[in-house]
Amino acid sequence: MSEDEVQVSQECVVRRARRSDLRDIYLIEVKSFPYPYPMEAFITFLVLYPKYFFVAECGNRVVGYVTGVREEDGSGHVMSLAVLPSHRRRGLGSALLRVLEEAFLRDGVKRIYLEVSQSNKEGIKLYRKFGYKMVGVKQKYYPDGSDAYVMVKEVHT
Ligand SMILES: CC(C)(COP(=O)(O)OP(=O)(O)OC[C@H]1O[C@@H](n2cnc3c(N)ncnc32)[C@H](O)[C@@H]1OP(=O)(O)O)[C@@H](O)C(=O)NCCC(=O)NCCS
Repeated sequence: MSEDEVQVSQECVVRRARRSDLRDIYLIEVKSFPYPYPMEAFITFLVLYPKYFFVAECGNRVVGYVTGVREEDGSGHVMSLAVLPSHRRRGLGSALLRVLEEAFLRDGVKRIYLEVSQSNKEGIKLYRKFGYKMVGVKQKYYPDGSDAYVMVKEVHT
């Protein structure tokens, strides 16, 4: 098993995403967010940042993903994280975020940030648990005009 592949439970692993996963990833995105990224965005993330794109696979089925970008200032940016509703609350979201953070850390990232909807209680709770702190608000971030919190984690190794 490579350093980028982690056994999460008897039937689930987190591994690097592949092109053939994109359809499943997009379907999870659509089921998880009111304003999903278009498929083209995922293709771009996979082409430009394959090191920071992971899926959770359970019994040969892709049930979750996380995708990140390394910004020009050296920060890690969590672009999207989602798990199929049927597979939530089993630790997969945490496992995905942990593997992405480790990939960022290996590349010397010291600061990781993300945007999360102010109404997304589960997401905010997950990120707080991981040590992310709210540092600001991006107004009218979503197409319906609602705001996003910006959450940041400073990583000390
Ligand atoms: C947020 C999300 C990725 C969590 O995935 P998950 O596999 O259920 O996460 P985990 O089982 O690892 O849970 C980790 C922690 O998240 C928080 N959490 C997750 N779901 C929660 C819920 N329904 N209610 C309250 N807290 C929740 C808890 O702190 C939980 O830790 P705990 O189980 O020790 O209490 C998932 O709910 C999801 O895909 N939501 C829709 C998309 C989204 O909001 N993505 C994140 C914002 S970009």
